[in-house]
Amino acid sequence: MTKKKLLIFGVSGLTGYKIAKLAEESYDVHGTYNQRFLSLENCIVHKVNLSNKDEVYKIFLSVNPDLVINTTALHNVDYCEEHNGQAIDVNVTAVKRLREDAERFGCKLIHISTDYVFDGNNNKPYVESDQASPISFYGKSKLDGEKILEGSRHIVVRPSVVYGWTPLELAGNTSSSGKPMNFALWVLTKLNKKEPIKIVTDQFASATLADSLAESILKIAESNKSGLYHVSGLSCESRYDFTIKLAEKFGYDTSLVSPTTSASFVQKAKRPSYSCLDCQRAIQEFGLKLLTTEEALDIMKTQVEKEAPHLLGNR
Ligand SMILES: NC(=O)c1ccc[n+]([C@@H]2O[C@H](COP(=O)([O-])OP(=O)(O)OC[C@H]3O[C@@H](n4cnc5c(N)ncnc54)[C@H](OP(=O)(O)O)[C@@H]3O)[C@@H](O)[C@H]2O)c1
Repeated sequence: MTKKKLLIFGVSGLTGYKIAKLAEESYDVHGTYNQRFLSLENCIVHKVNLSNKDEVYKIFLSVNPDLVINTTALHNVDYCEEHNGQAIDVNVTAVKRLREDAERFGCKLIHISTDYVFDGNNNKPYVESDQASPISFYGKSKLDGEKILEGSRHIVVRPSVVYGWTPLELAGNTSSSGKPMNFALWVLTKLNKKEPIKIVTDQFASATLADSLAESILKIAESNKSGLYHVSGLSCESRYDFTIKLAEKFGYDTSLVSPTTSASFVQKAKRPSYSCLDCQRAIQEFGLKLLTTEEALDIMKTQVEKEAPHLLGNR
């Protein structure tokens, strides 16, 4: 039987890479990179800069996909604050291009947004119908990207603090996303070098294992539904509490992690103090099995034990 064709924009990124690995059994997988070339078994990779309309159109023409997943973003929050034009180009204009091409080629588009569309003033996990009111330019650009898909047959998924094991980020090549390394991997590399780190106790989120996000997106892709869905981890905790769990799970000395507050950091962009997500809608409509931080860290640890055991502590 001929497999359907999946085109992943951003296969060199954390979420894109995880989707490619999970999708290979069900789809003919194609993926794009921009600055970080990679070679993947069972995925044909193509260089595409989303800022270039012709390059985007040509990849649709050459792959003729049945399903398109957009994991790309300019998501260095501080960088976006000072480079508004670049943020609009990747987080808004490129989404418009993808929608136009997806409709021209008759395929479904799944796009990833963010919990940073919220201002953080809630005291319970945000549901999809809560008012989005971003407090950073990054959040604003992502919200504008969502609006491009409003009322369409496409899907927008909002995760929160996406993390996980990937060999690509340890290779040290700079991504055009502006993100040097995902939060959990950054913590592990610091603790591995016995470097003390200060982590905020006043920013709460529902950290999302990239593997779980990838699995959920592929499950969502099987349905004919459209609209906006929250898909994150099930826990709602501060960055500090998450970091302590991570350090303990990977066998590191937690005394290297000290608590601090957002006010003691000089950062260009504001972050919401609370951006936990309520994922009940996606759980009920798609039967997703989302994970607590404890369950997710078990999965990540198994991967690190196998692929990068030097990143484990020995406490
Ligand atoms: N990471 C988080 O904490 C977090 C939290 C909430 C939501 N999200 C959202 O989740 C999605 C996935 O995040 P992630 O952490 O998996 O991303 P990531 O690892 O930073 O990867 C981003 C991908 O986007 C590609 N890209 C960036 N600019 C591009 C351009 N101009 N043209 C073509 N490709 C471009 C990068 O390509 P190269 O690397 O090859 O340059 C890379 O493959 C994003 O939409 C992000 O906004 C992330």
